[in-house]
Amino acid sequence: MTFHIITIFPNIFDSYINESILKRAQEAGVVTIVMHDLRKYATDKHKTTDDTPTGGGPGMVMKPEPIFNCLKAIREKENPDFKIQKKSKNIFFSESSPILLMTPRGKQFTQKDAQTFASKKLNSVILICGRYEGIDQRVHDYMIDSEFSIGPYVLSGGELPAVVITEAITRLLPGALGNPDSLIEESFSKKLALAGAERSAGEYPQYTKPSSFSPTKELELTTPEVLLSGNHEKIKKWRNQHSQ
Ligand code: ADE
Repeated sequence: MTFHIITIFPNIFDSYINESILKRAQEAGVVTIVMHDLRKYATDKHKTTDDTPTGGGPGMVMKPEPIFNCLKAIREKENPDFKIQKKSKNIFFSESSPILLMTPRGKQFTQKDAQTFASKKLNSVILICGRYEGIDQRVHDYMIDSEFSIGPYVLSGGELPAVVITEAITRLLPGALGNPDSLIEESFSKKLALAGAERSAGEYPQYTKPSSFSPTKELELTTPEVLLSGNHEKIKKWRNQHSQ
C-alpha cells in the first residue's frame, strides 16, 4: 500500500517515518510512503499555497489549485489515462485509492477505520494535511472522499494526524509487525474495535524483569507471583480478571 501525504512541510515526517514500525514496514515492502510538497504544485512564482478569505475575515485559507494539481499528478502517475470524474462527487475518485482530508471538523478516526482501510487491499491512501485556518471549501466538496479528525482538539495542521493514521493502518497490514501475536493480543483490536475511542483500552497489566525492583531501601516493587508461576491457565485467568 502506498501512502501519499500532501503537505507544505514534507520534512516534518522524516525522523518518525524512518524509525521503528514504519521504517520496517517500508523496508519489508509492505508500505511505501511518498511525500508531496504542496508548494511544488503552486501556480504562481512565489509558490503560494494560501490566500485571504473571500468575503473578508481573519487568517488565511489554503488555495484549491495546488491541491488539485497535486492530486491530478498522483492520479496520472498511477494511471496515465486518468480522466477527471465529472459525474462523481469526488472528481478524483478511485475505488482503490481513497483521498482523506485531515481536519478537526472530520469524523474521529477509530481503530475500526484503521481496520477497514487495512483490510480493503487498497492500492494507495492519499492524506491531505490542512494548515492555517482552513481549506477552500471546493476541496472539501469536490476532491476528497472523507474528512478525518484524530481527536477533539485543534492542532496547527494535519501533519501529525496524517502520521497517526498512516501508522494505525500500517501496523495492521500483514507483514508490518515483527511479531503478529502482539497484534492478536491487543484487546483494542480484539474486543473493542467496534466501540470506538470512548472505551478504555481493555488491556491487562504487563510486567517485565526484574520481578523485584527496589528504587529505595524502604520500597520494593514486585511482580504478581502468579505471573512467575509458569502456570499458563492461572496466568490467563489472572489477566482476564485484571483486564480493564
Ligand atoms: N488539523 C488540526 N487539528 C486536527 C485534528 N484534531 N485532527 C485532524 N486534523 C487536524
